[in-house]
Amino acid sequence: MPSNKLSDIFGISTFGESHGPAIGVLIDSPLPNIDFPSEELLQALQRRNPQLSFTTARNEPDQIEILSGVMDGKTTGMPLCLIVRNLDARSTDYEALKDVFRPGHADFSWFQKYGIYDYRGGGRASGRETLARIIAADHVKSVLGDIDIHITCTQIGELKAMSQKGDAANPWHWPCSQTFPKLMSYLNEIQKSGDSVGGILRVSAHNVPPGLGDPVYEKLSANIAKAMFSIGSIRGIHFGDGLLLAEQTGSQVNDQFINGKLASNQHGGILGGVSTGQDISYDLIIRPVSSIRIPQQSLDRPGQSRQISIQGRHDVCHIPRIIPVIEAMLKLCLADAIQYQKLVSAQSQSLAGFRESLDKLDAELIQVLAHRAEIVKQVKAFKTKQGLPPQDPEREKNIQDQCSALAAKLGLDPHLAKEIIKLSIRISNLC
Ligand SMILES: Cc1cc2nc3c(=O)[nH]c(=O)nc-3n(C[C@H](O)[C@H](O)[C@H](O)COP(=O)(O)O)c2cc1C
Repeated sequence: MPSNKLSDIFGISTFGESHGPAIGVLIDSPLPNIDFPSEELLQALQRRNPQLSFTTARNEPDQIEILSGVMDGKTTGMPLCLIVRNLDARSTDYEALKDVFRPGHADFSWFQKYGIYDYRGGGRASGRETLARIIAADHVKSVLGDIDIHITCTQIGELKAMSQKGDAANPWHWPCSQTFPKLMSYLNEIQKSGDSVGGILRVSAHNVPPGLGDPVYEKLSANIAKAMFSIGSIRGIHFGDGLLLAEQTGSQVNDQFINGKLASNQHGGILGGVSTGQDISYDLIIRPVSSIRIPQQSLDRPGQSRQISIQGRHDVCHIPRIIPVIEAMLKLCLADAIQYQKLVSAQSQSLAGFRESLDKLDAELIQVLAHRAEIVKQVKAFKTKQGLPPQDPEREKNIQDQCSALAAKLGLDPHLAKEIIKLSIRISNLC
C-alpha cells in the first residue's frame, strides 16, 4: 500500500534512508508566497538534532537543499522538493549487523515482509527519517493560526517529574527543576551500563478551533493517534485523563456545561472524534530505543542464534529528539483537518472553494484508479501462478451491470457509469 504519504490535502510525501544520499520531502500542493526556509524551521531542525550527552553522536549539519518550488526565498505554489544530505553516515558501524536482527528493532519484521533489509543505520526505520516531517510541518504552520503546542516530559525510565508545572525550558522538557540533577545522573548511569530508557510525554494544543475531524473514519482523535504511531518508538496514547477514565464513573468523567460553557476537559478536547474547542491533550508512551550495548540473544538471517552488542552511535534516551517530531506530526494533522474543514464549511462557498473541492475529488478518483491497477497487477500474478486465464469477461460484465444499476439509483446516467467501469478495467489492464 502506498505508505509514505503524509497528507492528502497538501500532497506531502517523504523519502530517503538514514545512510542513503539524502532524506527528503515533496509537497505537491504547497502554499504559495511563504518565506522559505524560515528561522523557526532551522531552529526545529536543530532541536531534533541537539548534540546532547545522551543522544546520538552523529553530527549532521542538516542543511536544506531546495530542488524546486522556491524563488527569491518564497514558495511559488509549484511542487516543493527539498532534501537534506546525509553527510555523517558511518555504515561501517553496521557491518557487524549485516546478517543479524537487532532485538526490538524493525529489522526482523521488515525482512520478513520484504525479504531484504537496509541494515545501514536502520534505513527508513531510523529516527533520521523524521527530519523530513519537520520540514513539512514548518510549511503548513500558517494554516494553524494561533494554535500553540506544548510538550512536557512527565517520566523518563523509572524517574517521575515531581512537579509538572515548572518551566520545562530544557531539551528534555523536564518540568521539575528539583529532580533535574537526579535525571541527569540517572541517564548517566543508564549510559554507562550500555542500556537505554524511554518515557512519557504530555502533549497539549491550545486555541484549537471546534469542529475539526470527520466521523467516523477521519475522526480527529483517530488521525492524531495514527500520526503519533507513525513515529518510530511510540507505544501508546491516552487522550484526556487516559487510564483514570477506566476506573471512574460516568458522573465523574462527564464534562458538564456550567453557565453555557464546558466546565472541565477530561476527554482531551475531542468528543465523538470532533474537536470541542478546548485544549487537545494526550499522553504518549515512548519505548526505550532498541539499539543497546548490552549483549543480547538474537538470530541471524540463516536462522542461527547469535549474541549481539550494538556499537553504533545511538540515543540512550531519544526524548529530546522525538519532541520536535511529535510537534511536527500534530501540526500536520491539525493543518489537514483545518484545511479540510475550510473546504466543506460555509467559508468555502465561493467558486474557488467549490473548484478546490472538485479538484480534490478528481485527484482522489485517479488515486482510486491507481490503487485498482495495483490490485489487478497482483491478481494477474496470482492467476499466472495458478495457471488461470488472465481475463474473466463474465465477471467484468457482471460488475459493469451492478455499477450501472447503482449509478441509476444515485441519479447518475447508468450508461455512462457502465462506460466508466469499462474504462477503469482498461486502464488497470494497461499497467
Ligand atoms: C527521533 C528518533 C530517534 C531515534 N533514535 C534511535 C536510536 O538512536 N536507536 C534506536 O535503536 N532507535 C531509535 N529510534 C527508534 C526507532 O526508529 C524505532 O524503534 C524503530 O523504527 C522500530 O519501530 P518501533 O519502535 O515503532 O517498533 C528513534 C526514533 C526517533 C523518532
